[in-house]
Amino acid sequence: MMQMVSEENKYSNFKLTITKMSEVTIITFANQKGGVGKTTLCTMFANYLVAKGKRTIVIDCDGQQTIFEKRKADHKKYKDLKEPYKVQAFSIADPENVRNLMQNLRQMKGTVLIDAPGNLAQQGLIPLFVQSDYVVCPYQYETTSINSTVTFLGFILQLKKRVQSMATEILFVVNRHDKRYGTERERKLWAETDAQWANYGKVMPKIEQRVEMQRYNTVELTVSQEEIVTPCFDSIYNVIYGEDGHGKAKE
Ligand SMILES: Nc1ncnc2c1ncn2[C@@H]1O[C@H](COP(=O)(O)OP(=O)(O)OP(=O)(O)O)[C@@H](O)[C@H]1O
Ligand SMILES: [Mg+2]
Repeated sequence: MMQMVSEENKYSNFKLTITKMSEVTIITFANQKGGVGKTTLCTMFANYLVAKGKRTIVIDCDGQQTIFEKRKADHKKYKDLKEPYKVQAFSIADPENVRNLMQNLRQMKGTVLIDAPGNLAQQGLIPLFVQSDYVVCPYQYETTSINSTVTFLGFILQLKKRVQSMATEILFVVNRHDKRYGTERERKLWAETDAQWANYGKVMPKIEQRVEMQRYNTVELTVSQEEIVTPCFDSIYNVIYGEDGHGKAKE
């Protein structure tokens, strides 16, 4: 586990001032569980947001640099590609660098989407979470995924306790959902889990397990992808921008 000492002093005053002035919304896709769809949903949500006319940037903080590499591949695939949004790779190895990054992002306008690595042991994750307005936490309906999500939630809650000005809201997303899967007992258990999450954040509509989800790019959603993600993404959008698109978050 990470050390969280002295974070309160570093952030409390800063956060109070920035939340008042900020014209940016920072959304981090995170869960310590691997393979739950952080990268997929981060990229697809970027495609969704730009289609809605929102100024968007993606910061790829995962060591594997999946989104960054995917953008490179898209450039090869689509000649003269006009980037709908920038994708920047960033290493979170040094927490001081991450603090600087987050301060710089706070000066921007629009929506910043961050793909976080799945390893909680990285110190750089602390400023990332503290300075995020929202954490989108994908998970799957299966025991190890739920257990990891509990650990992750515990970590965020502990961080919130220590950094009292931390206003990060958690949005839970069941991803790779398969209606046919699970015994009656398991389904009851999952419903109870979701009810518990609701005490700590907002539970968004589920995203189905579908092969189309594996063929995403960094440009736009296909029609069938749009169909799959829209209920969930519309809900996230409404939480962030309000029903009319001009709510809490700014352009
Ligand atoms: N809704 C879905 N339906 C089908 N496949 C999916 C869905 N969401 C994600 N996947 C697939 O699951 C795998 C893991 O997804 P992804 O890489 O986005 O997870 P991650 O949480 O970013 O993983 P890591 O922890 O390794 O960074 C990928 O092969 C992806 O294509
Ligand atoms: Mg990933």
